[in-house]
Amino acid sequence: MRLRKKPWIEKALPEVIAAGMLINDGMECCRGHWQERFPGKELCLEIGCGKGGFITGMAQIHPEKAFIGIETQSDIAYYPAKKAMETGLGNVVIISGNAAFMEDWFAPGEVRTLYLNFSDPWPKAKQAKRRLTHRNFLGLYYKLLGPGGRLFFKTDNRKLFDFSVEEFRAFGMEIRGLSYDLHNSSYPNEVQTEYEKKFSALGTPINYCEAVFTADCGKVETRSPKNIRPAVPAERE
Ligand SMILES: C[S@@+](CC[C@H](N)C(=O)[O-])C[C@H]1O[C@@H](n2cnc3c(N)ncnc32)[C@H](O)[C@@H]1O
Repeated sequence: MRLRKKPWIEKALPEVIAAGMLINDGMECCRGHWQERFPGKELCLEIGCGKGGFITGMAQIHPEKAFIGIETQSDIAYYPAKKAMETGLGNVVIISGNAAFMEDWFAPGEVRTLYLNFSDPWPKAKQAKRRLTHRNFLGLYYKLLGPGGRLFFKTDNRKLFDFSVEEFRAFGMEIRGLSYDLHNSSYPNEVQTEYEKKFSALGTPINYCEAVFTADCGKVETRSPKNIRPAVPAERE
């Protein structure tokens, strides 16, 4: 998702930052302290939350949980933060930053659930390491979620989906749920994302996988994805 740079965004951002809905600096200080902000709430992350229909919808349905969205483009991160502010959601915060650095923002065991929705496919083979389901990212997530941590993945892109499921298996994750047509399956789907609505309106089936980190994970060699230059892919239309 690439939006044209909006001239007003630089002026609008301070409002959501001051309201505590958007963090774009100093995330390292939050590491190990998220429970102080969200006492007693299970922490759920969405990486690449886009305009935030999913994360704000989930936060409304699940007040017992806290939802943190990570979005690398600040122009886009503004929208879910603004929505959370306007609807008075106290269990959402958006981080404007690249998830490759999330180990600096969360301590091991702080996060239990991770959502990857319609992640950028990075279709060329040489771009595979940029995919958020590449084993390098799985290694990073495993450090934070540990055994028992759950990853939910939805995408319209069958090639990305097949690649991802192979990566989950190779990494030692247990596949708990899998569908090539989520909307015609018995799996629950509480909130649709913006991309999900768009693709399903076009008749594209939605692929879905729930994978769980196990004690067997982390045996394959992985590298930190930090050295991958943050980049914005071309918009998928
Ligand atoms: C295709 S959009 C999907 C947005 C939303 N999840 C949906 O389903 O409607 C992917 C989003 O992920 C963000 N993104 C890609 N790589 C990221 C990364 N490493 N860290 C944080 N956000 C990322 C992009 O900026 C983009 O907004």
